[in-house]
Amino acid sequence: MAFPSTSCSVFAQNLSVSFSARQVINNLSVEISSRNITVIVGRSGVGKSTFLRSLNRLNEEISGSRTEGTVKLSFKDGTVDIYRDRFPIEELRRRVGMVFQTPHPIPTSIGKNLSLPLKLVLNLPSRKIDDRIEKALTIVHLWSEVKNRLKEPALSLSGGQQQRLCLARTLALEPEILLLDEPTASLDFKASEKIEDLLSELKRDYTIISVSHSIGQARRIADNVLVMKEGSIIKVLAASQFQEKGTLEDLLNEVF
Ligand SMILES: Nc1ncnc2c1ncn2[C@@H]1O[C@H](COP(=O)(O)OP(=O)(O)OP(=O)(O)O)[C@@H](O)[C@H]1O
Ligand SMILES: [Mg+2]
Repeated sequence: MAFPSTSCSVFAQNLSVSFSARQVINNLSVEISSRNITVIVGRSGVGKSTFLRSLNRLNEEISGSRTEGTVKLSFKDGTVDIYRDRFPIEELRRRVGMVFQTPHPIPTSIGKNLSLPLKLVLNLPSRKIDDRIEKALTIVHLWSEVKNRLKEPALSLSGGQQQRLCLARTLALEPEILLLDEPTASLDFKASEKIEDLLSELKRDYTIISVSHSIGQARRIADNVLVMKEGSIIKVLAASQFQEKGTLEDLLNEVF
């Protein structure tokens, strides 16, 4: 594969990840376009979350993990070869924001869930923090629900509200690449719809890579679908290839 093109924001080549002796990502190579929504589908345990974590070096937090191969990311101000260049890991994780499969608010107030990272990571002054908090909570359609409860514990929110809070916390740090691990898994139909609409808006500014178990969701939001099997990407589908009813289902039936 050649050096990533200008429209590509993630370029992985011969990427392998193992935990202790077990290889979970196997020689994976892929290019992911910028300002698009790429949805990753595949059976439970094929390595979807591990692949997402390899894009901001989060697997390194797991003892016994080992990563080989290349991941290059294009940011506004240049390309970083994340396993070779000396790029600060905190900055990498800010620019490549991740929202996890299960929401995990910090066990403190709703407001502090947003203000603490803004203070610690970006060192923003208080007046700017308040603005960013309101903006991020508005984007995820949570502001009206929590604006009078910012001092209440984040864990008092419902699962779906916690998921939106965690998304707001990541967006408040203004990442360039957004990794979403089943972002609507704990949401009801209406809340899922809101998040899907939101993602379609956000792709104007962000490169979004989202894991989903829902074919309907992939069809509604994806520009590209990556199909994973046994730690590799075995198919890349453009939107036009899976809009016709049946195509994606047939493909997944083959894979599953
Ligand atoms: N922290 C870890 N330590 C050891 N093995 C792990 C760890 N995290 C994941 N694995 C293993 O890596 C493999 C891939 O897991 P991963 O969580 O990436 O799958 P997934 O495709 O996201 O699955 P799901 O759809 O169920 O979320 C699994 O066999 C899993 O047991
Ligand atoms: Mg997973």
